[in-house]
Amino acid sequence: MEQRFLPWFKRSYNERTRDLSTRRHIFSASAAVSHQEWRGCMEAIAVRALTKSYGSFEALKGVEMSVPQGAVYGLLGPNGAGKSTLIKALVGALRPSGGEMRVLGLDPLRDRSQLRRCIGYMPQSAALYGDLSARDNVRFFGSAHGLPDLDRRVREVLEFTDLSDRAGDAIHTFSGGMKRRVSLACVLVHRPRVLFLDEPTAAVDPGLRARFWTTFRDLADDGVTLFISTHLMDEALLCDEVAVLRQGRIIIHDTPKGILERGLTRVVVRRSGQGCEEHIIGGHPEDLAQALRSYGLAQDVDAVEVRRDTLETVILSLIEREEVRV
Ligand SMILES: Nc1ncnc2c1ncn2[C@@H]1O[C@H](COP(=O)(O)OP(=O)(O)O)[C@@H](O)[C@H]1O
Ligand SMILES: [Mg+2]
Repeated sequence: MEQRFLPWFKRSYNERTRDLSTRRHIFSASAAVSHQEWRGCMEAIAVRALTKSYGSFEALKGVEMSVPQGAVYGLLGPNGAGKSTLIKALVGALRPSGGEMRVLGLDPLRDRSQLRRCIGYMPQSAALYGDLSARDNVRFFGSAHGLPDLDRRVREVLEFTDLSDRAGDAIHTFSGGMKRRVSLACVLVHRPRVLFLDEPTAAVDPGLRARFWTTFRDLADDGVTLFISTHLMDEALLCDEVAVLRQGRIIIHDTPKGILERGLTRVVVRRSGQGCEEHIIGGHPEDLAQALRSYGLAQDVDAVEVRRDTLETVILSLIEREEVRV
């Protein structure tokens, strides 16, 4: 089917630099940047020194963040880390205690109505009308945005989210996973340029999770920026960039590849009649060559096994290391 959601913005994240150090940061610009100027900028979301306190409890403790346009950006963190608080602040649903934030160059609080037209927000718990059909729920969201081509657009998103067959059925007859798909259709109907998805894959079966991530990638390829929170560490691998939030602080910000390179690799060499020798090396391919060089492919080397840390193991050990430091 036709999946050109944003024909006016073709440059996807993959076509641009992944080098985090070269990213232009909006707050380094001397004066406030207009919304028009922002269209040429690489950043979709910029956050600086963002804090949020609930009474004496600090839920966000100075979050810094820069999300490039067209990226699938993963916000990882355990329950209570502050993920929903951060997302609510970015969509203008919550007033932070301090700091600055911009989404597509707009201030989420001051420019809320303008921003609502270009972003989609899928909250952690689905906000759907149970007695209405999937189609009518999507239509309701579309009419709130005053879409001129409402009927066609509703059909398009129902097809894109694979809901056409059940479009006329009432939501209360749907499984949890199906309801998630309807929620996604609702936030896509007005062609948003930035999507905020708060734990979209929580309590979703593995098959549907995989389909969700394929859909996210399709959207990003069309230039949509996706800001996705999850407490599932293995989902980091599916993102272009990842920030790990712990107790209101970003403790890791990297690409999945960069995180994997921080992990350890175990090379186990078995030699005839001598048992196994284990070498612990870094995550670079050159490290493996270096470790094997000493063997010179000797006749008595029967097998070489490489055991790499998984992304989840690396993230958890980085979190642990951080806990020791704090
Ligand atoms: N309205 C609120 N009042 C008081 N504390 C809150 C409120 N909302 C969230 N919190 C607390 O802030 C912390 C972060 O919550 P939240 O952003 O929901 O985390 P996450 O989405 O990562 O699970 C938690 O300790 C939570 O209990
Ligand atoms: Mg949450």
